[in-house]
Amino acid sequence: MAIIEKKESGTFTLQTRTSTYQMKVDRHGMLLHTYYGAKTDESDYSYLIMPADRGYSGQPGDLGNDRTYSLDFYPQEYPVYGDGDYRITGLKANLEGQVPALDLRYHSSRIMDGKYRLEGLPAMFAGAGEEGISTLEIVLKDRYEELYVHLLYGVYEEEDVITRAAVIENHTGKTVELKRVMSACVDFAEGGFDLIHFYGKHAMERQMERRALPHGITQISSRRGTSSHHHNPFVILSRPETTEDQGACCGFSLLYSGSFQAQAEVDQLDQTRLVMGINEEEFCWRLADGERFTTPEVCMVYTEEGFTGLSRRFQRAFHQRLIRSPWKDRLRPVLVNNWEATYFDFNEEKLMNIARQASDLGLDMLVLDDGWFGKRDSDNSGLGDWKVNEEKLGCTMKELAEKVNALGLSFGLWFEPEMISEDSDLYREHPDFALQIPGRSPVRSRNQLVLDFSRKDVREYIEQQIFRILDEANITYIKWDMNRSIENVYSAALPEGSQGEILHRYVLGLYEMSEHLLERYPDLLLEGCSGGGGRFDAGMLYYAPQIWCSDNTDAVERLKIQYGTSFGYPMSSVSAHVSVCPNHQNGRETPFKTRGICAMQGAFGYELDLSKLSEEDKEEVRKQVKVYKENYKVIQSGSYYRLTSPWENHDVTAWSYVAEDQDRAILAAVYTDLHGNPAPVRVRWKGLKPDAVYEVEGSSYTGAALMNGGYLLPVPKCNYDSCLLIAVERQA
Ligand code: DGJ
Repeated sequence: MAIIEKKESGTFTLQTRTSTYQMKVDRHGMLLHTYYGAKTDESDYSYLIMPADRGYSGQPGDLGNDRTYSLDFYPQEYPVYGDGDYRITGLKANLEGQVPALDLRYHSSRIMDGKYRLEGLPAMFAGAGEEGISTLEIVLKDRYEELYVHLLYGVYEEEDVITRAAVIENHTGKTVELKRVMSACVDFAEGGFDLIHFYGKHAMERQMERRALPHGITQISSRRGTSSHHHNPFVILSRPETTEDQGACCGFSLLYSGSFQAQAEVDQLDQTRLVMGINEEEFCWRLADGERFTTPEVCMVYTEEGFTGLSRRFQRAFHQRLIRSPWKDRLRPVLVNNWEATYFDFNEEKLMNIARQASDLGLDMLVLDDGWFGKRDSDNSGLGDWKVNEEKLGCTMKELAEKVNALGLSFGLWFEPEMISEDSDLYREHPDFALQIPGRSPVRSRNQLVLDFSRKDVREYIEQQIFRILDEANITYIKWDMNRSIENVYSAALPEGSQGEILHRYVLGLYEMSEHLLERYPDLLLEGCSGGGGRFDAGMLYYAPQIWCSDNTDAVERLKIQYGTSFGYPMSSVSAHVSVCPNHQNGRETPFKTRGICAMQGAFGYELDLSKLSEEDKEEVRKQVKVYKENYKVIQSGSYYRLTSPWENHDVTAWSYVAEDQDRAILAAVYTDLHGNPAPVRVRWKGLKPDAVYEVEGSSYTGAALMNGGYLLPVPKCNYDSCLLIAVERQA
């Protein structure tokens, strides 16, 4: 069992393959955090907490004048507001009309086989009866009121990850106002960490940034109602000396698609506290007597194997224990999406020309993007009216799907279910369906408003419209888009005091509707999207095995975007397309081959008018599709390695995949600079069997040679040239 309770010391020790996590109930009933780090034994690590006179910090009321005991510097599992700990807390709550103050003490605990579930929220799972996965539940209770906090820990021994969540249960007889409820808090007894996070903007998501944590509070967050383009709900604490291949680092990923916060505080004793959960801004949840509130889940990894070790654990754990889709290990359809090919300006003929070419070139699917419904010839109108514009299409959706299917292609469709245009029949009929503040003109973005997905009736209305289309036509893929941040968060359906619940209820509504969709169409391939990668988070992966990574399709900028994304997410979830040049986002010209190599880094497709390609490019498409299909298993579920960083190496960005049994590996490299009289560019492969012999481009090398000596990349012949090398183990 990976969870060891020792009654004599009050410790609970969680053991994964290479990490250990420990907490302890002390003599006052406080739940202290005593260890998170490299794998160790079950000793009681509370000897590392040094009592000292801390008269200038708060002492719990029942301890009299014991100045050596203060929660202001003691490491804790779930610190609360109002007990003398002035640092950032896990929970801030009050009985209605009173000031926030809690005093949580140990109440009970239980250890269970398998993994806990979270009602209405994405969570990592375990198969029935599976070994190596267990749950610890610790219940804390307020010393004065019947307010309970259930701390949930999921321990995945083999995957080497620990998950956390909290459930607040109210039996006080009164309403409790939850002002801040974090999913997890981890107290490290030391300072001196670097914080790594992934910031960005529309069309430039998940840019890696690393900085030394200063004293005080550092916050990475979104209050946009989505996890956002701007800050990803995934952060890493590392030692300053940690590199790609070695050193200690600890990653935290929030399985949540709404406003979030990750805060790190370095305190007066140089200790570091990390908390993560729903953003407390605009959040206030009124928990009635008898009710429970469940936080989203955090998945945590601690490793001393550098960032490669950290990413591999997240990628593997999410691939195996979070993504549920039947598509996760299947060959994903190589698709062509008409967005950058036509934008809103399409008709049946244009679509069928693209489809015919796609079929001829060996692709698998045509995806019809925005513009097929209501009055929608620009992004100024029509959202909410999910009625097929048959005049524009020249046929029904069923007929279009049939024609596409007749070419041997499957058919996918774009929706933006959460939005409403003011110029739409839906808005004219139900203006109250939109989130907006009465008496104020709404904040618009992309000239659209957000539907109040906290309301069941609104969701059901949209759901029915979508179901009608999916029931009628043979649609096997949906791209679920969401194209603006949320503002003016006011719901016409919620009472005055409950407006602080809207954003979280919205996310719960989004999850419920996604669940309905997948229950009704279990084989549907759902692709997440939010103006590109504005909702690329682990919560979405529970529903959508792939997410459109960015609206930026330039192969060179994608190097950085996909590099950043790879730290916390499986590459099979990174949806990437080949588009035309000059690139529509930044005007850059890159070779067709390079665009293919970059897009093959994840779930592969095209986003251009295939019928307009030159014969040479068409030949290249055939080649790319063939290479992708031959290697999809390695790309989708092999081990992924970042070989060079686009931030540090300005000449070449390289990455590789190695098959599970290490008999095949793929290495891709893109040159980002050119030089006269160039020096040889050497890249070292990773993850091969040292003793095996691999064939690469007609020559043989041992794994040891490729990994230690490395491989000389071919000399680039033009700007942004690239290469794709496949190493195949020679069979004896
Ligand atoms: C934003 C998406 O990221 C694009 O791919 C495209 O679907 C547009 N929305 C359509 O409006």
